[in-house]
Amino acid sequence: MDKDIDVILKKFKPGRREELLPLLQEIQETNGHLSEEAIVKAGRFVGLSTTKIYGVATFYDQFRFIPSGKVCLKICNGTSCFMSGSGAVINRIREETGFEAGQTGRDGVFSYEITTCMGGCHHGPVLSVNGEYLTSVKPEQIPDLLKKLKFIIEND
Ligand code: FES
Repeated sequence: MDKDIDVILKKFKPGRREELLPLLQEIQETNGHLSEEAIVKAGRFVGLSTTKIYGVATFYDQFRFIPSGKVCLKICNGTSCFMSGSGAVINRIREETGFEAGQTGRDGVFSYEITTCMGGCHHGPVLSVNGEYLTSVKPEQIPDLLKKLKFIIEND
């Protein structure tokens, strides 16, 4: 359920297209994704069609259109992490979860995203778990890590 989008809109000036990105960013920060309701309201607010808002939002990797999982994994695929084997880590996450980057599992436990540099290049591949960084991650660690995280979520 979206937190009140109208409250967020009050922080911005209506009709100003240059405020669209900061507006969408704030909605996503607050709600974790851009819902259909948010897109429609943002469009009306800045004076752009819903199609245009989707067009802008899909252009930027940072926006999600479905809610994140309870555990949100972000795997860096920047140059250094890529050279250190992030591709194999990403493949393992895909195999273990059974879904693609940018999606959320049906049970709502996991979602994962592929990101650019997270600033830990010398210790790649870097994996963020709800904002906590794991470094030098190996693909063979993934099954155990996901099992432990799922256990924690289900017994919390
Ligand atoms: S390239 Fe992955 S942290 Fe910099």
